[in-house]
Amino acid sequence: MSEPLLEIKDLVVEYHTDEADVHALNGISLSLDKGETLGLVGETGAGKTTTALSIMRLLPKKIGEIKNGQILFEGENLLDKTEAQMRLIRGESISMIFQDPMTSLNPVMRVGDQILEALRLHRPDMSKAEQQKKVDEMLEMVGIPAARKREYPHQFSGGMKQRVVIAIALALEPKLLIADEPTTALDVTIQAQVLQMMSDLKTKLDTSMLLITHDLGVVSQTCDKVAVMYAGEVVEYGRAEDIFLGKQHHPYTEGLFGSLPELNATAKRLSPINGLMPDPMALPEGCKFHPRCPHCTERCKKEIPAVHQDGEHMIRCHLMDKEVR
Ligand SMILES: Nc1ncnc2c1ncn2[C@@H]1O[C@H](COP(=O)(O)OP(=O)(O)OP(=O)(O)O)[C@@H](O)[C@H]1O
Ligand SMILES: [Mg+2]
Repeated sequence: MSEPLLEIKDLVVEYHTDEADVHALNGISLSLDKGETLGLVGETGAGKTTTALSIMRLLPKKIGEIKNGQILFEGENLLDKTEAQMRLIRGESISMIFQDPMTSLNPVMRVGDQILEALRLHRPDMSKAEQQKKVDEMLEMVGIPAARKREYPHQFSGGMKQRVVIAIALALEPKLLIADEPTTALDVTIQAQVLQMMSDLKTKLDTSMLLITHDLGVVSQTCDKVAVMYAGEVVEYGRAEDIFLGKQHHPYTEGLFGSLPELNATAKRLSPINGLMPDPMALPEGCKFHPRCPHCTERCKKEIPAVHQDGEHMIRCHLMDKEVR
């Protein structure tokens, strides 16, 4: 068996604020194979962006601290890399589309030049003509006529700006693309188009993708694997079939998926569950989901649940000890 492209092992991340330590990630483990798409889902504050920023080693300086764990990329621990090594990895091997795409574009630089900049930095072996050709190719690939490369971001619609961001992220043909809510800022019809395009490009370039989204329809359509996060932990993880069609689930996943009408529903969002995610400055004892769990027992209030593994399907819940509920 070949090694996974990305493997996160027992990652613990804290943010240090004036008031307290925020326990943003409490030992998460994930893996992603070449060419696969892994969906990260969970309510606001679950730790999804923190996971992405940790992989990129872009946690806010002094505030964000990786306390434990490993992030293996092609078998090498990214946490051991120097900043100079990380600069090469970012863009070239791993690139990220941020939660707010509009912040990724430089408003006073022509869009073509923004793609060109990445090529100049990372592909000095290419001639100027080759670089220009690649800029045209990338724009065409995301559905923007190459002639518009001389325009500035404000001359583009939201959906087109996001396409430019995607073109930049994919220009260096990274092995891993991290997309943090890449379409949240777009209206629904454009969202579907942009996601479809990302999926197609990913297949064409054989890129692996970590896709962070609130949209379960998107997950069911694009992801090979799904990790459900709650309060800085992965509470359920498996192949998309396990998550959408499997019989057993973490009660949190059940709550999230609520009454998912069908696998290919496009507009289904995570449904709200009663109560709130615990404050990561003061996490509950035992299972972190117990205060909101309809199946909570005394044991759940005290003991941290063990991981239950069924093939690739993982559930972290005491109820699984009994197999049947
Ligand atoms: N710079 C920071 N300083 C202090 N706390 C932070 C910082 N960034 C994130 N956090 C906290 O860490 C936890 C995880 O945040 P994170 O941004 O990873 O969540 P998320 O799952 O991406 O949420 P969303 O769906 O809203 O984007 C939250 O409790 C958040 O308040
Ligand atoms: Mg986020």
